[in-house]
Amino acid sequence: MKETVVSGIRSTGKLHLGNYYGALSNFVKMQEEYNCFFFIADLHSLTTHPTPGDLSRTVRDVVVEYLAAGIDPEKSTIYVQSDVPEVAELYLYMNMNAYLGELERATAFKDKVRANPDNVNAGLLTYPVLMACDILIHHGTKVPVGKDQEQHLEMTRTFGNRFNRLYDVDYFKEAFAFSYSDKLVKIPGLDGNGKMGKSNGDASCIYLSDTPEVIRKKVMRAVSDSGPTEMNQKKPEVIQNLFDLMKIVSTDDTLEHFENLYNNCSIRYGDLKKQLAEDMIIATEPVRSQIQALSNDDEYLKKVVKLGAEKAAASAHKTIREVREIIGIRKLY
Ligand code: TRP
Repeated sequence: MKETVVSGIRSTGKLHLGNYYGALSNFVKMQEEYNCFFFIADLHSLTTHPTPGDLSRTVRDVVVEYLAAGIDPEKSTIYVQSDVPEVAELYLYMNMNAYLGELERATAFKDKVRANPDNVNAGLLTYPVLMACDILIHHGTKVPVGKDQEQHLEMTRTFGNRFNRLYDVDYFKEAFAFSYSDKLVKIPGLDGNGKMGKSNGDASCIYLSDTPEVIRKKVMRAVSDSGPTEMNQKKPEVIQNLFDLMKIVSTDDTLEHFENLYNNCSIRYGDLKKQLAEDMIIATEPVRSQIQALSNDDEYLKKVVKLGAEKAAASAHKTIREVREIIGIRKLY
């Protein structure tokens, strides 16, 4: 039996190059080996009260981008969380078993409280319970998440084990963080520090949906320095970042050409950036045009999302039936 992977995608998340060459390329490979459930976590996003228009648009955009990037709806189950109401039902049951103290101690919760002290709603507090249910509903054992979500996974194990103990069953399995490949390519941001990521601001990210004009503008504005002053000098991080990006999207010859210019101090960063932008545009062209095509194909999207909902519902329905039986929610009629 294939192991089950569950991954929730924040519905606010427009994909950037970092996702595309990093986590997402792993998702695409994982589909072959695992029973994968990828879902858009639209219920989770309600904690921040998006407008109805924004919510529905972003959910659709995320589906489009994941499909464009290579998630195959035949191999994987890609669905929208709210299409599977069993998740919300399980969430109700599991909430009876999640305690205020442990929920308040969660780091992500404390961060949110600090950031938005006026919006400390119950949904935010119980966010980890809903996340646990996303995983438990499919008996997922592998969850491809980053460090910031480890604590939520630990809570998922706590809730599952507590349920098992309370009802004296061996029902829910333990889920653990999973990285498909250790060799995650690091995609630097354009702002000179660290990773490409939304938290570092839009200017640091090249989004898959960015038009070529936008890509050119962002790359030309990327942080650099005043240039090397000594032959073969070590590159400072901001410059190394540009070269790292080039390594991903450009040919070896191009990379070598600019390495040489750098090493003999005749590099002009404007030229490097121009080349980098053009190579990025070429590298992302297939996925950009696929995004275009899919977002205009309502029929196909409907079909895919419906298929995903059906596959997810089959798995979720079985779990809920069993959970009700375990809890003692048994029909009188
Ligand atoms: N909390 C995750 C994040 O912020 C999103 C998420 C929701 C998730 N439910 C999940 C991830 C279940 C993995 C499994 O990125």
